[in-house]
Parts: sequence; C-alpha cells; structure tokens
Amino acid sequence: MRTQVAIIGAGPAGLLLAHLLHRSGIDSVVIEQRSREHVAGRVRAGVLEQVTVDLLARLGLDARLRREGLVHTGTNISCDDDSFRIDFADLTGGATVVVYGQSEVMADLTAAADARGLDLRHECAEVALHDLDTDHPRVTFLRDGRAERVDCDFVAGCDGYHGISRASIPDRVLQTFEKVYPFGWLGILAEVPPCDHELIYASHERGFALASMRSPTRSRYYVQCALDDRVEDWSDDRFWDELCLRLGAGAGARVIRGPSFEKSIAPLRSFVAEPMRWGRLFLAGDAAHIVPPTGAKGLNLAASDVVMLGEALAEHYAERSTAGIDAYSARALARVWKAERFSWWFTGLTHRFPQTSGFDRRMQAAELAYIRGSRAAQAMLAENYVGLPLTN
Ligand code: APR
Ligand code: PHB
Repeated sequence: MRTQVAIIGAGPAGLLLAHLLHRSGIDSVVIEQRSREHVAGRVRAGVLEQVTVDLLARLGLDARLRREGLVHTGTNISCDDDSFRIDFADLTGGATVVVYGQSEVMADLTAAADARGLDLRHECAEVALHDLDTDHPRVTFLRDGRAERVDCDFVAGCDGYHGISRASIPDRVLQTFEKVYPFGWLGILAEVPPCDHELIYASHERGFALASMRSPTRSRYYVQCALDDRVEDWSDDRFWDELCLRLGAGAGARVIRGPSFEKSIAPLRSFVAEPMRWGRLFLAGDAAHIVPPTGAKGLNLAASDVVMLGEALAEHYAERSTAGIDAYSARALARVWKAERFSWWFTGLTHRFPQTSGFDRRMQAAELAYIRGSRAAQAMLAENYVGLPLTN
C-alpha cells in the first residue's frame, strides 16, 4: 500500500504526529512492534508543559485532561529539613503545568485514533526501512506472519531509544552525545493521597527523592537508588522509611503509606543524536534524545518535536516547499539541547553522586541556598520547568 508518511512507533511521539498530520489532511500509517496493551500499560512521568497541553487542545484531545488534570502553579524544593517553593505563575507571568499521567495521554490518543479512523498497525515484526536517501522510501514488516510493504513520501522515526530508525542513519552522518548517571530511580505507585498538593523535589544527604502524584487519591513517589539495586531489595516498608527521611520532617510526616501496586527501577541517561533528519527520514522523541526524568521533559520534548515536524510536513504538502523540512533538525535540536541542559542541571543539583567530595556537596548546598534567595535564579528554574517557547 501507499501513504504519505509512514510513522514508526505508536508511543506518544508517533500517535501525536499521526493526529497532527490527520488534522492537516496528510495520510499516515503507524507501524508499531508491540501490542496495544503493552504500549498502553507503560508507566512513565506525568507533568505536561503548556506546549503539550496546547497541542492536545488543538487536536481536540483535552476533554478528560481539562476534567481530571491537576493544574500546578508551582513546585517545592526541599533540602534536608528545609524547603521553599518555586511559584511558576508569579515568576513566568502566569505559566503553569498540568499533572496528568502519560498512560492517560496514551489512552486518550489511542481512543481518538480509532474514532478518527487513523491507521495503527500493532504487533509488526522485523520492521525495516529502505531507500531513505531516495524520493521513494518504503517500510517492510511482518504482521500476522504475512509480509507487508508501505511505500511513502517520508518516514517519521518515532520508535524510541531502542528503535531501528536512528540505527538506519549511516555512522558517517550520525553523531551521538551521551552521559550515563551513576544511579537510578526507584519509583512506586500507591493508592494513597499525595503528601502535598504540589510536587516536592528533595535533595537529601542520603540521596534524591520526589513526591509526585497521579490524582488526589493516587501517589507517585521516587527515591534515588544504586544502579545495582534490585526491586526485590526494596520492600514497601524500606521504601516508605527512606522516602519519609529524604522528604524531611515536614513533608515526611504527611506521607500516607499503603501497598505499592507498581515498583520499578529506571537508569538515568542524557543522550542526543544529531542530525534529526537523514534524507526522507525524520527522528522525533526518544528515538533522537533521552533526558533524565528530573524535570519530566521526556514526553514534552516528544510533543515539541512533533509540533515542529508536523508544521514542516504540512508546509511541504501545502506549498511544495522544502524550507520547513530542511530546517526541522536544527530547529528541534535547539530546543532539545536546552531541555537537556535543564534536566542535567536539575539532576546535578539534587542528587548524590558516588564520588562527591565535601567540596562538591557544599557547592550543591550553596546553589540551593542561592536559588532560595534569588528571584532571578528561581525565574530560570521556573521558565525551564514550565517549558521554553517553541521559537527558542
Ligand atoms: N518497529 C516499530 N516500533 C518500534 C520499534 C520497531 N523496530 N522499536 C520500538 N518501537 C516502538 C516501541 O514499542 C514504542 O511503542 O516505538 C515506540 C516508542 O515509544 P516511546 O519509547 O514511548 O518513545 P516516544 O514516543 O518518543 O516517547 C517520548 O514518552 O514514553 C515516553 O520515555 C518516553 O518520555 C518519553 C516520551
Ligand atoms: C512523575 O510524576 O512520574 C514525575 C514527575 C516529575 C518528574 C518526574 C516524574 O520530574
């Protein structure tokens, strides 16, 4: 069969792009290797920037988000037993974020894709990209044991960090930049009310902790852990004790404990691939970049990539111009690198590094004290946290 854009991967990047293209009257086919249930069930971060909320609104996908999403006008930073608030709305002229789980975003995107008749193909094996550096690229794969072939004008590589799209760019063209952090995040979900109405990022002598939430009755908590820790090493009791200690006396005392129904360890990584375009292949989302979760930029960066890619492709089809698609990689990377910087900086500010010297520790404490007392420093944190404008 033939389509205009073949989209590899049905994660947030792939589905958002399919909806955006549909709105511009551009046909696409989404080719995903896993099942619908697997893709829907992945637990990820849950803070949406204004750019992401605006995109969902533009796509007519924000009805449930408006009802159930929790608007946060600020966040808290705690350091041992002391804490202060970053007031986003005041520091940025009114910007806020919305706490709404990525699994909810995925459920909304998938339901609307079915209602709008988008072509999503799950459980595709041996997905391969061909002739990307010609005018007639194609994608081949096996579905239900049968060989399928999609001829297209463009391929959008939205297949995450482990996908095949980035790997299809020749080594002589692709440059990658990476930083692996010497710790992980142990995260749990529990059906208990959150300890605060906003998030708390805690920098503690024993390591980082984060108090987040999914709803007024469901909490999402994390503690920094060693890379070789296993989930079995962390009983619920051990987790709650460590979390309460790291959140400090005030918030720690407000934590309501309960059985965890999800518990997993994720490594932390910063990664960028350049360029984000090769021939008729465009990368978007985790296929091109990874951020550590401090600041929750992963899903938001995927959203800003596809907004830019959607605009570029719409311009191409409407005006037969290549200006937008030629500019896509540089435009996307400019914003990506700023989000990389912010999540790297916020991680460095709040985590304990195994090799940290007394001097490094004092530097972290001095920087936290500086932020606490400086409106300019708080404004830097706030404007990055709520998301930089797309034009930056
Ligand atoms: N062929 C087809 N699909 C593939 C292939 C392949 N070879 N390899 C991976 N995929 C699929 C994965 O199964 C997954 O569903 O691509 C999808 C990529 O989705 P994500 O990893 O979620 O990446 P992305 O859509 O860029 O998401 C960006 O959301 O999930 C978070 O951590 C992610 O925060 C980041 C943001
Ligand atoms: C989450 O709720 O899962 C979350 C929130 C903020 C982060 C990371 C994760 O910075």
